[in-house]
Amino acid sequence: MIRKRVQILVALTCGMLVMGGVAQVSSAWAGKERPPLQQIPSAVCGECHQEIFHEWQGSVHARSSAIHDPLHAAMYRMMIGDPTQEGVKNPKTGTYPECLQCHTPNAARDGKTKLDALPAYEEGVNCVGCHTVEAFHGVKGEDGKLRLGSAAYTYSDKKVQGPYGAHHGQTPALAPGAAENAQPTINPYPHAQNGTLFQSSGICLGCHEQHNNPHGLPLCATGPELVAAGQVTTCQSCHMPTVKGHANHTMAGGHDPAMLKRGVTLDLTTRLEGEQIAATITLRNNLIHNFPTGAPFRWVALRVTALDAQGQVSWKSAQENPIKEDPQAMLMLKLTDAQGQPVPPAMATTLVADTRLKPREERKLEYKIPAKEVKTVRAELQYGLLLPPMMKAMADKVPAAAMQPVVFVQTERTVAGEP
Ligand code: HEC
Ligand code: HEC
Ligand code: HEC
Ligand code: HEC
Ligand code: HEC
Repeated sequence: MIRKRVQILVALTCGMLVMGGVAQVSSAWAGKERPPLQQIPSAVCGECHQEIFHEWQGSVHARSSAIHDPLHAAMYRMMIGDPTQEGVKNPKTGTYPECLQCHTPNAARDGKTKLDALPAYEEGVNCVGCHTVEAFHGVKGEDGKLRLGSAAYTYSDKKVQGPYGAHHGQTPALAPGAAENAQPTINPYPHAQNGTLFQSSGICLGCHEQHNNPHGLPLCATGPELVAAGQVTTCQSCHMPTVKGHANHTMAGGHDPAMLKRGVTLDLTTRLEGEQIAATITLRNNLIHNFPTGAPFRWVALRVTALDAQGQVSWKSAQENPIKEDPQAMLMLKLTDAQGQPVPPAMATTLVADTRLKPREERKLEYKIPAKEVKTVRAELQYGLLLPPMMKAMADKVPAAAMQPVVFVQTERTVAGEP
């Protein structure tokens, strides 16, 4: 079936060359005009790039739209409106909803807001959402305003952009990320070689550099964090490692415990000091951006527990909420309104504190634990997608599983002096 589809694609491409103009590239469009590049759904690219397609499908990019991401959908509906309607405007500014410039770049290019109108809109950051970007112009406009997502890029209407500029219409080749039993095929889309962009952080930064909240606070600022770190490498070097011979498109981050675990080193030492155990926890951020980075409602909490010989918990660094009980253990942004009341990021006017680990930062935290009957001390790090008060506020709008905090790394020491 797939092979047949590919043959059709190739046949039509040749036809397209002969006719020298617009023609169909897929049987799905038989008899119709070929859609513009930004309306091509990922499944079409996935016919030949099967592994890359599956990696992308499992990525957060594939569910970045308000149709597929429950968290984004809930916030979009609260702040903007209905993602299935055309002509929606930001109610505060009366302009096109800026969220769509990053979360659904193809719809933004077409100026549309009905996201379920086309698979290429609903898919959010899909193949052509990135592979038609021709140049990145920085997020700071001449007028001093931020250019967000698609507004920071210029796009190609004619050529798929990629790192190498694949041969087109000449030698049959195996697509990068093709299935093992695939046949060599001819790539039906004209390509442009654009490694300057695709092998630099620029391809990511239009959407990931900076985003201010409605009061102008720069709360998503992975870009400036990198500048502070001296920009020692590209985003791709960590987020797109080479796996099975091609650049991996899973682009894991905060939703992936395995990725989180590699971002930070958790070290624990204990010593007996009379009636007390002194536990020292060293956290080291291995990254060139903050830990955690990105959205201002992410948080990481250190939890320390002491266990007796039976494995029963005899002491905890926080019973319930470390924000109140053990503030040093919370890596997060502390935000308030003008009256000094804690508020969600969108309503904040003041950044009171940023306790996230800075790039390459090493931080030591000390705990004194009553030593009686303690056999083991355990330290663990928990990651949350949404701050606890926001989780409560969203409880009726977002399934609990979509915002459940996870413990992503844990370490234990037997107390020194014990056998
Ligand atoms: C009919 C099969 C086929 C389809 C459909 C297809 N490709 Fe390809 N693609 C290939 C082949 C084959 C190569 C490798 C060609 C070579 O090395 O000569 C390739 C290479 C690439 C490359 C890497 C080389 C470069 O230019 O940097 C990118 C990126 C790419 N394709 C993106 C896409 C996108 C995006 C789509 C969907 C709009 C797509 N492809 C659809 C077959 C296909
Ligand atoms: C067109 C805008 C856009 C571009 C370009 C883009 N991203 Fe994203 N990215 C997003 C959006 C939007 C999300 C959040 C989606 C959501 O959760 O709703 C995201 C999420 C992520 C995440 C978080 C994953 C997680 O588990 O939470 C990582 C990591 C990421 N992108 C890396 C990259 C890298 C690396 C590049 C460049 C190769 C890149 N992105 C290019 C828009 C973009
Ligand atoms: C978030 C942006 C983004 C999205 C979405 C995306 N790509 Fe890519 N892709 C890149 C970047 C950046 C590179 C270059 C990586 C490098 O060489 O460092 C790349 C490389 C590639 C390559 C060359 C791989 C190799 O190592 O030879 C192919 C083929 C490709 N992409 C196809 C696709 C297809 C098909 C999809 C959709 C299923 C897709 N891409 C979605 C950003 C993206
Ligand atoms: C040295 C490796 C490394 C580099 C370089 C790197 N990252 Fe990350 N990134 C990680 C790890 C590990 C995580 C998971 C820990 C975290 O969330 O901070 C992560 C997390 C993220 C997240 C997830 C945030 C969330 O809310 O879930 C985003 C977005 C992200 N990175 C974007 C980028 C961008 C954009 C670049 C380039 C400008 C980049 N990263 C460069 C390793 C790296
Ligand atoms: C400048 C680009 C940009 C704009 C504009 C933008 N976002 Fe995002 N958004 C991102 C990126 C990138 C991520 C994921 C990575 C991170 O944590 O930074 C994200 C993540 C999110 C998440 C977390 C999703 C999850 O699954 O964890 C929500 C919710 C969200 N955005 C809502 C919105 C809303 C609502 C708007 C408009 C009012 C908006 N965003 C505007 C880039 C943007």
